[in-house]
Amino acid sequence: MTVRLTVNTPTMASLSTAAAATRLLPSATATATRFSHRSSLALKSLRSSPPLSRVFLPQKSSSHRFSSGRIGYSTVSSPKCSVSNPEQLKGARQDIKELLKTTFCHPILVRLGWHDAGTYNKDIQEWPQRGGANGSLRFEIELKHGANAGLVNALKLLQPIKDKYSSVTYADLFQLASATAIEEAGGPKIPMKYGRVDVTGPEQCPEEGRLPDAGPPSPASHLRDVFYRMGLNDKEIVALSGAHTLGRSRPDRSGWGKPETKYTKDGPGAPGGQSWTVKWLKFDNSYFKDIKERRDEDLLVLPTDAVLFEDPSFKEYAEKYAVDQDAFFKDYAEAHAKLSNLGAKFDPPEGFSLDDSPASGQPEKFVAAKYSTGKRELSDAMKQKIRAEYQAVGGSPDKPLGSNYFLNIMIVIAILAYVTSLVMN
Ligand code: HEM
Repeated sequence: MTVRLTVNTPTMASLSTAAAATRLLPSATATATRFSHRSSLALKSLRSSPPLSRVFLPQKSSSHRFSSGRIGYSTVSSPKCSVSNPEQLKGARQDIKELLKTTFCHPILVRLGWHDAGTYNKDIQEWPQRGGANGSLRFEIELKHGANAGLVNALKLLQPIKDKYSSVTYADLFQLASATAIEEAGGPKIPMKYGRVDVTGPEQCPEEGRLPDAGPPSPASHLRDVFYRMGLNDKEIVALSGAHTLGRSRPDRSGWGKPETKYTKDGPGAPGGQSWTVKWLKFDNSYFKDIKERRDEDLLVLPTDAVLFEDPSFKEYAEKYAVDQDAFFKDYAEAHAKLSNLGAKFDPPEGFSLDDSPASGQPEKFVAAKYSTGKRELSDAMKQKIRAEYQAVGGSPDKPLGSNYFLNIMIVIAILAYVTSLVMN
């Protein structure tokens, strides 16, 4: 088999579309034509969908209306749900699992969660101006951003679940759907927490231009500009890019990719598009292997994917993930959880976990209790005393001490006793 594949650029056939839509986001130099073409693409996708008033605006719509000179229509926000209910979140998680089994929509749900969170700007203190995981992507004004082309379909899939579980915020639902999709596709367990508060109106949506562009002039510095603004680092950029192990790119949405390939022409789900990997519904490290090898012209490599093996700092992680799936899974799970929390306002402030294990960030269990021979739980005073004793020998009760620690102490005591007896004699 010929080993040849170059970085994918839009095909000639798609160039006219790509001229407007190849960029996930408009750059400062984007032309008016690009804007209008991209808008018409997004609008086309909205028009071909059921009326948005039905998709996003269940029965008891509030009366929040807006209009903007730049946007030619108005919308209404959905009923307010200020705090998510843990039991309802668990119910929603079950329904998302069923949805995934029947529609194979894992990739687009991951993209939805990422695009809601990825608008975060760490240099802005105020919520929701700082952007991030706050459910703002449900509003038409944000859905119409060029980067979000096609995501209306993800919302359509989730809206019945939102209607059924009214005490789940959109912000939580988007992140729950994304993490569940990763896990159900065979990926790592994501240490998620919940309790995200929703923005209430479209005027709280971030401005267009905060998400990355797939084909910028200098991909490495562009990725750093965008992801550093979110407070993420090189390792997290590379790990998160590994989400492209799932899904496809479609010329009629982003402008990137082939209309169909041998891997996508039969679906599952809606056929077509170009995937990064052969098994694009399985979450594993094949994205890194395939980009490195460039072994098949039917597999996509965006400029921002290719640079992961070109930039020296990115390359260190990409090479590691290509050979070590466990390392990728570990770093991905941490980075995904961090991404899902960006900019979010939690109620309660520390968030809550849906699982028995504590949400990430909570303190470890006091494991020193394991060394107690008694059956009763140690009192706080006793815990403090044990902690002080551990610390006196440079240890910590939060982690079990190795057994040779005690052996060392015994040896020191024995030597001291021996020396003392010599001195006494
Ligand atoms: C590093 C910068 C990134 C760029 C430039 C980028 C660009 C793109 C583009 C152009 C598409 C194709 C969209 C379409 O035509 O439908 C896409 C799809 C996708 N992206 Fe990214 N992306 C980036 C980062 C991420 C991150 C961080 C995640 C998740 C953590 C992610 C998850 C996905 C998924 C799952 C799809 C497939 C969607 C589907 O099949 O419907 N991407 N991305």
